[in-house]
Amino acid sequence: MTATDSYVRVCALGDLVEDTPQRVEVDGVPVSVVRTAGDVFAINDICSHANVSLSEGEVEDCQIECWLHGSSFDLRTGKPSGLPATRPVPVYPVKIVGDDVLVSVTQES
Ligand code: FES
Repeated sequence: MTATDSYVRVCALGDLVEDTPQRVEVDGVPVSVVRTAGDVFAINDICSHANVSLSEGEVEDCQIECWLHGSSFDLRTGKPSGLPATRPVPVYPVKIVGDDVLVSVTQES
């Protein structure tokens, strides 16, 4: 991985399949990287309700759904759209540099 400021290269843009979350680790933090709606988003991979990997869920309408109990989190804000989750999941800024996808987990976007 290559760092640019606090940004870390996580994958190539071409590696991301539309609406298919990819789990990566950035500085030890599990992150789900999602290419959807013409953009790329990075959200903490752990559901705020329980220790479940969000990258195993489905993406629709710029939201990622936790497969266990069905709360969806907005990929732009991390906020849950409904119960049982009540707390947001951290989201992180993404930079696209050429074909590289970079994420910073030291600042929440
Ligand atoms: S573990 Fe994600 S909604 Fe319950």
